[in-house]
Amino acid sequence: MITPKSTTRGLAGTAKILLLALVPCLAGGPGAWAGPALIKEKGCDACHRFSPRDAATPESARGPDLFYAGNKFREKWLVEFLHKPAVVRKAGYITDPGFLEGKPEAPPHVAAPLDEAKTLAGYLTTLKLPGIEEPAGDIDPLSKGNRAKVKILFERNYGCSACHETINLAGKIHGGVSGPSLVDAGNRLTAGWVSRWLKDPKLFLEKGRMPAFKLDDETAAQLVKYILSMKKENLK
Ligand code: HEC
Ligand code: HEC
Repeated sequence: MITPKSTTRGLAGTAKILLLALVPCLAGGPGAWAGPALIKEKGCDACHRFSPRDAATPESARGPDLFYAGNKFREKWLVEFLHKPAVVRKAGYITDPGFLEGKPEAPPHVAAPLDEAKTLAGYLTTLKLPGIEEPAGDIDPLSKGNRAKVKILFERNYGCSACHETINLAGKIHGGVSGPSLVDAGNRLTAGWVSRWLKDPKLFLEKGRMPAFKLDDETAAQLVKYILSMKKENLK
């Protein structure tokens, strides 16, 4: 039986389909339009900040900030992560009650169906802080000799490995877990963002826990290349 209520719903549904069909014509792509509604619907904003003016802080939110996701992440990685979440912070996010013991209590990240993951990822890539270099496509790889040198910088001189996992020469995961894993950084992060993060982490995170390094431009550029060379396909 058709009740007035279900008729209204039916009409709303039709309107939604019509609007969805219009979406690709609007500036910013599909995610830019449908994204915010889906973020609310899925409750992503219960854990993540989508604006620096959010009432929560990075020290109170349950997940990392996403208002510069468009500077930081590669869209392909976002789609994959949102559809089949991978663990980046093995010790959990800093606000996880188990963080200090390295035994996170949070359940696995919510997973979205592929079409929703695409919409969400498309929207996230529109969230940008102004004035950050556009993500460079593929950067020149490090030569073998240079790679060995930068590895020493990363592991010994600056002790980055104390807090970050990377892939060692044997193709195995190696390093600490108090910072985010860099094992798949080459698929996950953009060169422009990593370079800016190394120069000026406070731009993104006022009270970060990573030590500030005074890196000259040449060293920073080499570290960026090293980090971006890490891809999970290289694991053995
Ligand atoms: C219950 C809290 C919670 C909810 C709800 C949640 N997230 Fe997360 N999210 C987290 C935590 C915690 C992490 C860090 C996971 C890790 O590092 O392994 C994370 C990581 C992420 C990342 C990667 C960020 C980074 O810096 O590594 C993205 C992107 C993301 N979430 C998007 C979303 C979207 C989109 C939604 C809604 C569909 C969502 N999240 C819902 C808690 C949440
Ligand atoms: C004392 C631990 C520590 C050391 C040493 C350290 N980091 Fe970090 N790093 C962190 C933490 C923690 C974060 C996450 C942001 C935060 O909470 O400050 C981070 C974030 C990062 C990120 C961004 C990752 C993401 O997904 O957000 C990169 C890239 C990075 N560090 C590279 C480096 C490099 C390169 C070095 C060495 C020059 C280094 N780190 C040394 C703790 C450290």
